[in-house]
Amino acid sequence: MGCTGWRLLWLACLVSTFLQYGAVRVTVRESALEVVRGDSVTLPCSFFTMMPLFRLSIIWTLTPVSDPDSPTQVIVYDQGQVIESPSFMGRVGFAGMPWSADIILNSTWVSDAGVYRCVVSNPPETGDPGIGELSLTVLAPPSLPVCLWEGDTDAGGNVRLSCGVVEGFPTPKVIWEKLEPDKTTLPVNMDDDMTGSVHIANVSAQTSGLYRCSVTNPLGTQHCYINLSVYTPPDNSPGILQGVLLSLSMALLLLALMVLVLWLHRSAQESKWRISHEDDECYNEIKYTPSLIKRSFV
Ligand SMILES: *[C@@H]1O[C@H](CO)[C@@H](O)[C@H](O)[C@H]1NC(C)=O
Ligand SMILES: *[C@@H]1O[C@H](CO)[C@@H](O)[C@H](O)[C@H]1NC(C)=O
Ligand SMILES: *[C@@H]1O[C@H](CO)[C@@H](O)[C@H](O)[C@H]1NC(C)=O
Repeated sequence: MGCTGWRLLWLACLVSTFLQYGAVRVTVRESALEVVRGDSVTLPCSFFTMMPLFRLSIIWTLTPVSDPDSPTQVIVYDQGQVIESPSFMGRVGFAGMPWSADIILNSTWVSDAGVYRCVVSNPPETGDPGIGELSLTVLAPPSLPVCLWEGDTDAGGNVRLSCGVVEGFPTPKVIWEKLEPDKTTLPVNMDDDMTGSVHIANVSAQTSGLYRCSVTNPLGTQHCYINLSVYTPPDNSPGILQGVLLSLSMALLLLALMVLVLWLHRSAQESKWRISHEDDECYNEIKYTPSLIKRSFV
């Protein structure tokens, strides 16, 4: 009996200790995760609690890399109810409830990258809620870059070729090359992380050609092109002379045609005049005939 009494006392002591100092303990198996955009990822969060799980509450939040000042909720579990945030609707779910707070994130977006926190509390367990933290990196191949040119493509002018890419992680490397007539790599100035440009001063006929921008990261490469043609003013007159000669010969041909048409017209009129006179004679004869016939009937 004495032994049982001691054991009860020990248990009561233990329970009161947990009630006083007890808190949900949270562990995160991996603190840094990587996923390729579009793939699924499991964000781990395990917890340990002494209390039954009737009032278990789990809140997952995200502090996005793109907007660190506005943390958002991802998914909430509260006494058996699951609430997904609009931007994660249909893509997020608990995996292993109620024994773990792990979540699966499906069809990941680039904007899902950031620091995730799982906050677990289980009243009446007192103390601070358990918090786990992990970072998620979303890798993405470069998007199709946009090639633009600006400047003066007359000989002697300055031209700037720029190549901008909107998406891609790790940040894509920008390379500018001239493909024709000879393949050469051009020095690139990075205007920002995602835009690389090339400056060409004093352009000449040799500057004309096909230019290609390549944006590359470990997940892929994309290209865009610019076909540059430098205008060089003609330095001699053969072109003009040829033009004048061509116009002259055209004019002569036109004149000859007009003469021909006029001649044809006139000869046609002459023959028509002749025919109409012959017609007149015929008509008279015919006109005369019916009167004769009429008379014979009367
Ligand atoms: C995520 O994808 C897996 C596998 O396709 C599926 O079993 C799970 O239900 C999906 N979760 C959500 C929340 O859509
Ligand atoms: C521009 O190029 C032409 C020939 O390509 C050269 O004669 C001229 O000196 C150049 N001008 C400048 C300002 O570099
Ligand atoms: C570039 O432009 C030139 C002249 O406009 C043309 O002859 C050539 O075919 C073009 N090249 C490409 C690849 O579009």
